[in-house]
Amino acid sequence: MYDPFAVTDRKKEEPIILGIESSCDETAAAVIKGRKILSDEIASSATVQAQFGGVVPEIASRAHTDEIASVVERAVKNAGISYEEIDAVAVTYGAGLLGALLVGVSFAKALAYALNKPLIAVNHIRGHLAAAYLDSPTLKPPFVTLLASGGHTAILHAKSETEFEILGATLDDAAGEAFDKVARVLGLRYPGGPNIERCAKEGKASVPMPKMLKGGGGYNFSYSGLKTAVINYCHTKEQKGEEYEKADVAASFQCAAVDVLVEKTVEAAKEKGVATVTAGGGVVANTYLRESLAAACKKAGLQLVLPQKRYCTDNAAMIAAEGLVQYRLRNFADMTLTAKASIPLAATLETVQSRRAKGE
Ligand code: KG4
Ligand code: ZN
Repeated sequence: MYDPFAVTDRKKEEPIILGIESSCDETAAAVIKGRKILSDEIASSATVQAQFGGVVPEIASRAHTDEIASVVERAVKNAGISYEEIDAVAVTYGAGLLGALLVGVSFAKALAYALNKPLIAVNHIRGHLAAAYLDSPTLKPPFVTLLASGGHTAILHAKSETEFEILGATLDDAAGEAFDKVARVLGLRYPGGPNIERCAKEGKASVPMPKMLKGGGGYNFSYSGLKTAVINYCHTKEQKGEEYEKADVAASFQCAAVDVLVEKTVEAAKEKGVATVTAGGGVVANTYLRESLAAACKKAGLQLVLPQKRYCTDNAAMIAAEGLVQYRLRNFADMTLTAKASIPLAATLETVQSRRAKGE
């Protein structure tokens, strides 16, 4: 009978967690021991998806089905462990593309069942937030976190590993979404963020952009005005038959999109009186953001802990990192676990304790 609860020792100092991620176009598996990364494997269908200008869910699901067994096998092998040594299997159950998520969830359930090990359901965004813990043995809440991914942009006060207060969030588009949409307008290929960054390196931030700080008020953001300003600028130039420097537009957009994130994150950290700032999500792979945030934190006397670029974009080590947090709480899933396409940010940040208090 499947009963991992009976055999699990949550007091284990450094449990070995296998993380599995398949919410979008990356099939990923990683093994961590405590916060140390033992292996990290990713197979991406991004180059296939690029031909279609974005992620085609059916192609992603098929690619996951083709890749998942070998990606997990490689992760276990490269970690230098046997399957029996795994203490828990953590998997992204949402949010993301339903068909894509189901591949990871089904595989993780089968593996956990076969090994009689606990199954841990990980919220993808909580994974992005936990990425800062990877290879950072001393990082401890409280801290202020910038979350900037393709679907979410928010500033959070992490009071503990599981308690978050939303200080501000985007009122419309997420930062990553704005990068992707502006990339399309500039004729840059999918994925938009890294291509804007590359293009921006060749240009100057000389095109006037709307002042983002006045956008949402407080710690909120608004990205749709910035996106529209870029679209209008390009279309007006095209209609007049005037040339414009794509690289200058990319650099100007990048500055406007990033500066507001940096400024508000540091402001929030000062207001909350925390000593540390962390960040997570695909946009945090952006070098201009990383350097600006580092400079602003240094100026404000704040410690900055950033995940390596590889652990900002989708990966499985971050899923294992959040799995470790949940493992210590003994927050295990059972074999009825299924995938969830969308999870609101507030629900994402709910703690096990608060869900239990509500009787869920
Ligand atoms: O966190 P992530 O990999 O997936 C989600 O959970 O959404 O974030 C993907 C987003 C995309 O919008 C992508 O364009 C953006 O992160 N991104 C970047 C960079 N790398 C990825 N944005 C700006 N600069 C980058 N280097
Ligand atoms: Zn992500």
